[in-house]
Amino acid sequence: MDTPLAHVSGTLLSFFNAQALISGYELGIFEAARDGAEAREICATCALPESSGQQLLIALATMGFLSRTQAGFALPADLRPYLLRDGAAYMGGLARHAAKFLYPLWGQAAAGIRENRNQREKVFNDPRKWFEMLYSDPADVADFHAFLSVLADPFVESFTRDFDFTPYRSFLDIGSGRAALPRAVLAANPRLDAAVCDLPEAATHMRKELAQAGMDGRIAVYEGDVITGNLPEISADLVHMGWMLHDYSAETQATILSNLFAALPPKATFIASETPLDDDLSGPAFVALLSINMLVSCDGGIESTTGQYLERFRAAGFVNVRAASLAGPRVLLIGEKP
Ligand SMILES: C[S@@+](CC[C@H](N)C(=O)[O-])C[C@H]1O[C@@H](n2cnc3c(N)ncnc32)[C@H](O)[C@@H]1O
Repeated sequence: MDTPLAHVSGTLLSFFNAQALISGYELGIFEAARDGAEAREICATCALPESSGQQLLIALATMGFLSRTQAGFALPADLRPYLLRDGAAYMGGLARHAAKFLYPLWGQAAAGIRENRNQREKVFNDPRKWFEMLYSDPADVADFHAFLSVLADPFVESFTRDFDFTPYRSFLDIGSGRAALPRAVLAANPRLDAAVCDLPEAATHMRKELAQAGMDGRIAVYEGDVITGNLPEISADLVHMGWMLHDYSAETQATILSNLFAALPPKATFIASETPLDDDLSGPAFVALLSINMLVSCDGGIESTTGQYLERFRAAGFVNVRAASLAGPRVLLIGEKP
């Protein structure tokens, strides 16, 4: 257990850790240390002065992101998938996203809380909506969906394993990012039809990813907007939308849910997967902080309790409204259209 002083000072300075790791990604340290190398070689590969380069290497090693070898530094085996560009769970996209968007926005966290609004206009001088701004550069779209799909991995695994897909014939994932979920659902249930629907820039990125994976004929990609209600005709009997309600205010969530209710065919099941706050608002700590992240970055974004989500489902017209827990952080919020 930390002393009170360590708790306060450690929290105030916790950005040291994050910024050192971001620097490691940005400067190419992990690629340079991929096969193990002396400090001098790593600094030369990364075009860094030996003195400051070594300061970073020492710091990353004390944090466990590099291991010490007799000759110098190497990568810890269990972190290679996260640290290397060709790793299966590479998180360099989150490093870039955090450096470009989240750090500047969190720099105005107190103002965001005082004003109860996002800080994008102040920080980036950009009046557009969050997804319009984020999606204006295809590299940012790729980063965003790459790290989100890694973060979603445990959810995708437990949803695919533990949810009973047998009553359904057709699955639609709205706001699907990289289509990781429908790919996994199809792999486990090959008799299902699968489709995705997302904003145009995300749909363009998804088509590229599906083509690269040889899945472009298997998953139909539609463009649509759940806020304007400009949606393709939906025939799926199972519709999922993951980690999107929390991007928006309670009022916009109500609009999204009633647009979806109107667009779904009768008897369809709708599931939103979210990371709710505990009913007594006592945690989880990460979700409580994520709520501030949504406030400063998104358009009214906020985390809610399971009870609040389910009440919004009922208000939109869904029946048989219920929550189901999965292994991992997400809860399934389920409703049916009569
Ligand atoms: C935070 S990401 C979640 C990605 C993924 N579903 C997951 O569970 O990790 C939110 C997704 O919702 C999409 N989205 C946001 N606003 C939308 C809207 N108005 N209409 C359709 N999709 C939207 C984004 O493009 C993105 O793919």
